[in-house]
Amino acid sequence: MHPIPVPPILLRDVFDDVGEVVRLLERNAPYTPLGGWYRPDAEMDTPSSPMWFQNDWVHSDLQVEGSELFLHHPRVIETAQQVYGAEIVKPHSVYVNVMAALERSGPAHTDNPRFQGRDRSNTPMWLLRTMFWSGLFEREGIVQATSIWWMNDVEGGAFRYWPDGPDAPPREHVGDMANTALVGDNHGMFHQVGPVGPFDQGTRMVTPRAELVPVGDGSGEWAVSDCGEERYRAPLANYRVSVLWKADVYRDEASMRAEQACALSIDDVAAIFDRDFAKRGLDLRFDLDRMDDFGFIGEVQAIYPEAIPRDKAPSIYDAA
Ligand SMILES: [Fe+2]
Repeated sequence: MHPIPVPPILLRDVFDDVGEVVRLLERNAPYTPLGGWYRPDAEMDTPSSPMWFQNDWVHSDLQVEGSELFLHHPRVIETAQQVYGAEIVKPHSVYVNVMAALERSGPAHTDNPRFQGRDRSNTPMWLLRTMFWSGLFEREGIVQATSIWWMNDVEGGAFRYWPDGPDAPPREHVGDMANTALVGDNHGMFHQVGPVGPFDQGTRMVTPRAELVPVGDGSGEWAVSDCGEERYRAPLANYRVSVLWKADVYRDEASMRAEQACALSIDDVAAIFDRDFAKRGLDLRFDLDRMDDFGFIGEVQAIYPEAIPRDKAPSIYDAA
């Protein structure tokens, strides 16, 4: 059995003036194809990327002008406090996804976990995920509230999610998505983007160098250019635009201080795994010199497999 995530809450009419968001989108163009850990081996000149564009608006070293609109949204913060029964919600990240013409779903996944003292800056992603699925680091895990806001209603573009855990059937938020947000637990709850229209020409692929920008001729259209050629053009309203928000959550000041005081070193991580290996009677040692060794990674991951959510739809990133 897998843990049941915190139940999310759907908000409607999140912004009084969605035009403010459109201006924020325009000011922060261009948008480039999603890279990241799903596809670290993308060739720069091969049209291997679907039209799934992304841009960061807020992270630890960045806060673009106007992003406070999302970062400090009072209703989203209050809802996160309510969802988690927590006093302290510290927003830290905002990023945007813009998609068109994805014939299949995105990958069903949980978002990458963080722990006191351990995150992407000092720990490989496979290890963070294995720490999460092992259940051995629940005390040091940083609870992350998430919100996903959708700008418009497009052809398809459902949000599929597993609020009752990966072993129960998913639910779907689809149609009537414009200006709604789902506030909850994307780190514990599996979720997946459904296919996104238009569906008349399959999944259109671009190179990792492609750029999505507003055309800027007053038409409200946005275009994808790739290696000097325009590959796609449509009104912004026809792209699936979603904005993601994340915050650290602590029950109160005292628990924040207590949790922050137990930062994990990499040696702590190795020691905790070693104790668990011994308990399981395994002849394996968590060897810090083998963190890049695929044989070792595979061995450790096999002990703590990730859940596979029931009824997940095939992904654009699945092997053909
Ligand atoms: Fe996600």
